[in-house]
Amino acid sequence: MSESLLEIRDLKMHFPMKQGVFQRTKNEVKAVNGVSFTVNKGETLGIVGESGCGKSTLARTIVGLLKPTSGDILFEGESILQYNAKEFHRLRRNIQMVYQDPFTSLNPRMRAGDIISAPLKAYNQTDNLKNRVLELMDLVGLKAEDYHKLPHQFSGGQRQRIGIARALALNPKLIILDEPVSALDVSVQAQVINLLEDLQEELGLTYLFIAHDLSVIRHISDKVGVMYLGKMMELSESESLYKNARHPYTNALLSAIPIPSSAREKKRERIVLTGELPSPSEPPSGCVFHTRCPFATEFCKGNVPAFDVDEDNSPGHYVSCFYPMDNKREEFARQ
Ligand SMILES: Nc1ncnc2c1ncn2[C@@H]1O[C@H](COP(=O)(O)OP(=O)(O)OP(=O)(O)O)[C@@H](O)[C@H]1O
Ligand SMILES: [Mg+2]
Repeated sequence: MSESLLEIRDLKMHFPMKQGVFQRTKNEVKAVNGVSFTVNKGETLGIVGESGCGKSTLARTIVGLLKPTSGDILFEGESILQYNAKEFHRLRRNIQMVYQDPFTSLNPRMRAGDIISAPLKAYNQTDNLKNRVLELMDLVGLKAEDYHKLPHQFSGGQRQRIGIARALALNPKLIILDEPVSALDVSVQAQVINLLEDLQEELGLTYLFIAHDLSVIRHISDKVGVMYLGKMMELSESESLYKNARHPYTNALLSAIPIPSSAREKKRERIVLTGELPSPSEPPSGCVFHTRCPFATEFCKGNVPAFDVDEDNSPGHYVSCFYPMDNKREEFARQ
């Protein structure tokens, strides 16, 4: 049996919108609106969804930068939301984060060696500090002479390697990667993803890997969750999701990925999203996807679908839809 490392239970993070001279709360941005999932030790859960669907908010809530409106977060089976400051400090060394933009996430005036040693200093792990930093730099493919360089002296990919080394410094159990390769060139993206895969194997790491398109996380993810307007639409083993996506939204995201063979490209059925992405402060009634779903009915407008699994036909494959699709996708099966 695989062991759960992180468990999220019906998590909500609503931001109050204050308006007028009295700053009254008029409405709320429902950035994360009832999300549940589990990440087991040693595995990678990929989370995808369009800009603004709540991915970073989810990440920031897990690392304690935001206090959730409701729900629970369990790490190694213990609820972390009740932790006092000391307990939380102890927990935080085990949950590290890598950010999207390697240009702004590193202090431009700090040298690479100092950036990587900062978490070690914060946790008083200063014995053999320089050696540990050099070891971390080697682990992520940086050279010893890079120690004294400033962030602007590195390429984007190398800067992201500094961010990864910093995240690894305290031997964390979980790393949350919030779009770690979105700002990089495609060829560099592949190098960084390969590095992350090697590190995972070598160090037994668990990843929560956030991306805005399904192609980036395909090979690294054991499971994939698809978010839309603060909710999880579909969640399953990676293979099952790419070959047999059941939610129309997931199918639309897969339709947007170009496939190499033109014959197969011509054959496939595409689902193209129409309409604007609604605001998370006024999510649509019923199924939040109904305003953009080609298959939505009157029923979908007035009723909220459960996040359900059909254990007989697709075990472990959760979907939040009244009319899940059943199209075995040839194009992704062969890639
Ligand atoms: N501190 C905040 N106060 C108010 N609203 C916020 C705050 N942080 C995020 N939001 C809103 O919550 C929603 C979700 O934002 P979030 O950054 O989590 O999305 P995302 O999925 O990470 O998007 P992207 O792909 O662009 O990074 C957005 O509508 C955003 O404007
Ligand atoms: Mg984000």
